[in-house]
Amino acid sequence: MKATLMSLGLVLPSAAQIANPVIWADFADLDIFRVDDTFYYSASNMHYSPGAPILRSWDLINWQFLGHSIPELSFGPEYYLEGGGNAYIAGTWASTMRYRESTGTFHWMGCIGGVTYVYTAPDAAGPWGQASTIPSCYYDAGMLVSSNDTLYVAYGNNGITVAELSPDGLSEARSQVVYPNDDDAGYLEGSRFYEPDGIFYIFLRRLLISDAGTPVESCGYPHQGGIVDTANGDWYYMAFVDCYPAGRVPVLAPITWADDGWPFVDLVDGALWRETYDAPNIEPPQTPINEFEPGTDLFMGPALSPHWEWNHNPDNSKWAFRSNGDGDGGLTLHTASVTDDLYTAKNTLTRRILGPASAGTLHLSSLSCMADGDRAGLSLLRQSSAWIGIVNQGGTNRISVTTGLEMGTDWDTISTGSELASAPLVGGDQVWLRADAAVGPGTVKTGQFSYSLDGVEFVELGGSVALNSTWEFFMGYRFGIFNYATAELGGSVDVVSFDIAMLATD
Ligand SMILES: *[C@@H]1O[C@H](CO)[C@@H](O)[C@H](O)[C@H]1NC(C)=O
Ligand SMILES: *[C@@H]1O[C@H](CO)[C@@H](O)[C@H](O)[C@H]1NC(C)=O
Repeated sequence: MKATLMSLGLVLPSAAQIANPVIWADFADLDIFRVDDTFYYSASNMHYSPGAPILRSWDLINWQFLGHSIPELSFGPEYYLEGGGNAYIAGTWASTMRYRESTGTFHWMGCIGGVTYVYTAPDAAGPWGQASTIPSCYYDAGMLVSSNDTLYVAYGNNGITVAELSPDGLSEARSQVVYPNDDDAGYLEGSRFYEPDGIFYIFLRRLLISDAGTPVESCGYPHQGGIVDTANGDWYYMAFVDCYPAGRVPVLAPITWADDGWPFVDLVDGALWRETYDAPNIEPPQTPINEFEPGTDLFMGPALSPHWEWNHNPDNSKWAFRSNGDGDGGLTLHTASVTDDLYTAKNTLTRRILGPASAGTLHLSSLSCMADGDRAGLSLLRQSSAWIGIVNQGGTNRISVTTGLEMGTDWDTISTGSELASAPLVGGDQVWLRADAAVGPGTVKTGQFSYSLDGVEFVELGGSVALNSTWEFFMGYRFGIFNYATAELGGSVDVVSFDIAMLATD
């Protein structure tokens, strides 16, 4: 892609510009706000645990992964993959987060299972805890801490309601429909609530064919998201674009306020979002940090980096840091489920794929601790999945590429897949498993698996695997590290490291 741009004589964005997407990863349903010098970004992650990721930035361009508002999805057995149920695409969706200066408290709110949950924390990095539930569903909630320190929430789809919260912000004082939409403005959702200069605004997403174009080639148009001002009074709109199979990625643009009080995005020819904009005029209080870069995680502990989210809540008795005081990192994953279905297996550890194309390399060791029937490896995980892994059959390990794992439209498994190719695991107690994932525009939207016995020479196995680009599962593809039993519990593997490298998209 870069070569093409250069040959057209276009100037590539420098690091000092806004280059869309701002983060090349799946962070949907974003809410954004500022506390002094610091910007916070709250997103949804549905069935992944912990829930409701939080990012932090000092310049709106470079983002760090700070943590999560929901330490555990404690909303029923299905969130633990127990009782035969699952919570695929349930959990956190369009939600809201704000800071209340008078109490020094961060508030997160979102509707889960028809009830609105409130989580609070003294610091955005935590510790977060459940503070209350409100018995109505604030659909696509947008919170406002008003200038007189009252908490309000705008919510709804189609008609829009505002709830005024109790003085502690934990229950509803009263609510009122503020926009019944009986003049048929089209389907509305995604409320965000602001009070610049003493005027109340509710921003909504209107589901119509948009002429706003897209700043990310061949992805959808920017929608939902929120607006935020900088310390010196400039305003920005951070939205997301649907860009499957990668997921929903954030884009940023400056906005200006017209004399009649309405905000406008700086468009090309009045119709198209730009790929790049001048960097915000901000003096960051610290050197900005971009955590969405290639790199290696050695799992040094004592906690997992927030980049890792489990598929449903984990069984924490079945994994541990390997660290034994000798400076080695790594994780031990004990099998946590007996199943032949990756989608119902507990303790799959996932990480967002960096777009437009990246390779995840998993270094596994202690393969001799696997039990008969165990499967451990690296998946490209979504409602249509594939994996490369180690299959233990009768005490012998082989390398397997298994494809065709499929969910039906109710997100129950309709196929556990079948082995497409295999290779013997010759000697050694360790293996490197790699998944190339081309998920963004300008790519072929396929996966390709390979393995190595020495961490240097990689051998492709199984040919390319198509990645499904439909939107209904909402979450994009992820790298997923798994270890499950098909016969009985007791086996384990060690995760030594996980590396992400960018792939060329030409
Ligand atoms: C804050 O302002 C709103 C709107 O004027 C008013 O309804 C509300 O009672 C005020 N709350 C407090 C705590 O003063
Ligand atoms: C993608 O997955 C959906 C189900 O989630 C399925 O209906 C559709 O046929 C799949 N598309 C392809 C190209 O396999």
